[in-house]
Parts: sequence; C-alpha cells; structure tokens
Amino acid sequence: MIRAREIVKEYLDGDGTLVRVLDGLSLEVGQGDFVAVVGPSGSGKSTLLHLLGGLDVHYTGEVEVGGIKLRGLRDQELARFRNSHVGFVFQSFHLIPNLSAVENVLLPSHFGSASLDARKRAEAMLDRVGLLSKKDRAPVRLSGGERQRVAIARALFTGPKLLLCDEPTGNLDAATGAGVIQLFHELHREGLTVLAVTHEERMSSAARRVLRLKEGKLVEEPSAHATPGGGS
Ligand SMILES: Nc1ncnc2c1ncn2[C@@H]1O[C@H](COP(=O)(O)OP(=O)(O)OP(=O)(O)O)[C@@H](O)[C@H]1O
Ligand SMILES: [Mg+2]
Repeated sequence: MIRAREIVKEYLDGDGTLVRVLDGLSLEVGQGDFVAVVGPSGSGKSTLLHLLGGLDVHYTGEVEVGGIKLRGLRDQELARFRNSHVGFVFQSFHLIPNLSAVENVLLPSHFGSASLDARKRAEAMLDRVGLLSKKDRAPVRLSGGERQRVAIARALFTGPKLLLCDEPTGNLDAATGAGVIQLFHELHREGLTVLAVTHEERMSSAARRVLRLKEGKLVEEPSAHATPGGGS
C-alpha cells in the first residue's frame, strides 16, 4: 500500500541553515495493515504524513501509495490522488463550525446538498461511526470524541483504502480516545490500511506494528501483536 524509499526532507531554518528532518527514511506498509508511528515532538512525524499523503512534494526519494508514484504528478493529479486514495484525520478535527455533522462529511463530494446519493452516503458514513442520530448537529454541540468521529466519517466518505492520522486522539481524554481507537481497530479489521502518528500508548498497542521515528529514520519496535517467540 505504501512504499517509501530513501526519503530526505530538509527545512530551511529561520537563520537560513538547512535542517534535515527525514534522513534516508524507508517504509513499507502492506495493504490492510495498522501501523503506529511514534517519536518525540519535532522528530518529523507530521512531516512524514504530509509526504505520504501527497500534501508536500518537496523532498528527495520515492513515495508510492496504492501503486501510484507521487513524484512527478502534476497538481491536479496529486489532488485526484488525495481525493481517491487517502483519508486524513487530524488532531484538531478540522470541522467547519457552521456546517452540520452531515454537511461536514459531505465536504469532499463537492456536490453539497445537491446530490441525494452523496447525502445518503454521508449519512451511511455517520452511521458507520455511530453518529447518525446527531447528523444535523453543528460541531459546537458535539463532544470532542463525536467531532473526531465526524472527521473520520468525512475521511471515509470518498472510499479511501488508506487512512493517515496525525495524533487523532491528541485532543481527547483517555476514555473518549479509547472509543476512537476502538473505531480505528474496527476499520482496520474491515480491511482499511491505517497509519497513525500517536503519543497514545493505547493507540500504539492497538496497532499491528509500531515504528519509531529516530534521527530521521524509522525503526521497528516490538509490538503487542508481534508473533510469540519471535525475538532476535
Ligand atoms: N514549514 C516548516 N519550516 C521549517 N521547519 C519546519 C517546518 N515544519 C516543520 N519544521 C521542523 O521540522 C521538524 C519536524 O516537524 P514535525 O512537525 O514533522 O514534527 P512532529 O514529529 O510532528 O512533532 P509533534 O509531535 O510536535 O507534532 C521540527 O523541528 C520542526 O520545527
Ligand atoms: Mg506533528
């Protein structure tokens, strides 16, 4: 599903020096896998997600997602790739405050309320995350966990095979976060590929693989799901 090779990503610092955030990073994620990426603040986790999702194209190396090589795609092709292949979930939900839950889910359709099919689909996605009964509520009238569920429903709307999540439980208390983690777990069981950047222990223990971002590279960590007796 994801294949990244020899990724080097540098930022220009305030004083004009180049800072290398990703330094020859490689990554392979199989279809249907559930991967957690952990690492301290500033280690480059969000940077990596942006590259994998086609939001940032300024790097060297190769990124291939769902068989599509991102290098060399034109803006329009990249936009199409993002729309059809990946769903993004962010720490701060990114919901539009003056739209209802169902209208937020509909956003990726570009048809708004015009298309009945799109609306039905948006409602089906809200049903999937357990929020159909609150479909007409504005985000301010939803709890944090419910807002994140709406954001997940929106990410699922276009039928992506891959969910890229940046600290999806970062703004939630432990109990609410646990519910959202459970939802990711179910989506993974239904065949979705999930890659989540997280500080949350429970998220990384729900994942099948845990990768630590360290000095610009990813190192595989033993996970709770590692095959018994594996070891060295
Ligand atoms: N647009 C930018 N310009 C310059 N430097 C940047 C830019 N974006 C990120 N950086 C730097 O790159 C490094 C990695 O940032 P990134 O946001 O990927 O970290 P992170 O692992 O997601 O951190 P956190 O856990 O705090 O979200 C940091 O040192 C950051 O200051
Ligand atoms: Mg980050």
